[in-house]
Amino acid sequence: MKLYSLFALSFAILFSEAQMVTITIKNNCQFTIWPATLTGGGVAQLPNTGFELPPQGDEAIDVPSTWTAGVIWARTQCSGSFTCATGDCGSGQVGCNGAGPKPPVTLAEFTLGHNEQDTYDVSLVNGFNVPVSITPEGGSGSTCTTTSCSADVNAVCQSDLAVKGSDGNTIGCNSGCDAFGGAQLCCTPPYNSSETCQPSEYSRFFKEQCPQAYSYAFDDQTSTFTCNGGPNYRVTFCP
Ligand SMILES: *[C@@H]1O[C@H](CO)[C@@H](O)[C@H](O)[C@H]1NC(C)=O
Repeated sequence: MKLYSLFALSFAILFSEAQMVTITIKNNCQFTIWPATLTGGGVAQLPNTGFELPPQGDEAIDVPSTWTAGVIWARTQCSGSFTCATGDCGSGQVGCNGAGPKPPVTLAEFTLGHNEQDTYDVSLVNGFNVPVSITPEGGSGSTCTTTSCSADVNAVCQSDLAVKGSDGNTIGCNSGCDAFGGAQLCCTPPYNSSETCQPSEYSRFFKEQCPQAYSYAFDDQTSTFTCNGGPNYRVTFCP
């Protein structure tokens, strides 16, 4: 009887550890942000698809085992009912409920293996609005480390990529693809492979600012991070 209970208990612990990953979102910026999440792959959205986060606030999101891929971003200067100067998802409310962000926006991207391998990255493929880092808590592997885009890219954004706020300050920096379009800058057919899609002057600018982040769609070599063992993660805006 005793043996059975012990077995049942350890099974329950193992089982629950395999089930749940927590992603904690921290606002280290000096201004309020409205983080948002978008789930890929046709499964249910996370319990929290958008919320207000004051400076130094944090919020933990429990990621169910059915969730395998998605992105997290920050919206800035949100007001009214409900629009944001950057990262707006057009839902008209604080939750994005399955809607994605309008560029330019810095993305924290995750594919979770739930005790198989996780991959994660910071992406500037759709431009930049706020600095962000991703830090695994636990896990193992040679690239199971923090990846970060901590530079203030807005401060050095060239004028033809810059998005200005109502006060005239630069609040976002567009990718070459979003600013000018075209198959070469956007890595769309026939430029949709690592051989045919090459870095551009615009992607090189983002890579110089943030060497660990994706600067164009096929920038995999230096931008992909992986963990084994199903760690939790911290996403920090303005790390
Ligand atoms: C490029 O696009 C073509 C046409 O849509 C598609 O068939 C092909 O699989 C794509 N190649 C890559 C590497 O994604």
